[in-house]
Amino acid sequence: MLKDDVGEILITEEELQARIAELGRAISADYQGKDLLAVCVLRGAVIFLSDLIRRITIPHEMDFMAVSSYGGTRTKSTGVVRILMDLTTNIEGRNVLIVEDIVDSGLTLSYILSNLKTRRPASLRTCTLLDKQECREVDVPLDYVGFVIPDKFVIGYGLDYDEKYRNLPFIGVLKPELYIE
Ligand code: PRP
Repeated sequence: MLKDDVGEILITEEELQARIAELGRAISADYQGKDLLAVCVLRGAVIFLSDLIRRITIPHEMDFMAVSSYGGTRTKSTGVVRILMDLTTNIEGRNVLIVEDIVDSGLTLSYILSNLKTRRPASLRTCTLLDKQECREVDVPLDYVGFVIPDKFVIGYGLDYDEKYRNLPFIGVLKPELYIE
């Protein structure tokens, strides 16, 4: 069982859903009367996005982009980012909210922000479920944060190790003996 590989549950399913409902309420209030486009950064954020948008009560659209960092190891990113799949929407003049599952070094989001800024959106904000604050290497503005978490290797609710565990409904910590840096 996948669950048997989890050493500790960091955020339960109930805690996740309660916080996501709060984020949905805040986003709905802030974007009231505005043309919101939620941009999901694949693949990890897809689970968060799908729950978040069902808590957003104003009309909005969504789009997807996929990025990948070059090199590094399976548990650490390098910061050299490339776009694997771009948005299909022209974001010029749109109110864009980037939705991420986790911000760690900040390098991925920093790259996405500077890339999307060049396309002249009306506004550009960020929403991340998890913020591994102590690992930050570059400053990135975070407008909506679900949880600040410690520097542990987290899996579940979209987050993977070697493409596994994304389907766990909670955020857990993988047993250390199961991964190699
Ligand atoms: C994760 C996450 C962010 C990035 C954060 O993606 O979704 O995009 O890492 O790390 P950083 O702040 O150190 O740049 P990952 O590369 O694991 O891809 P995935 O979403 O497809 O799992």
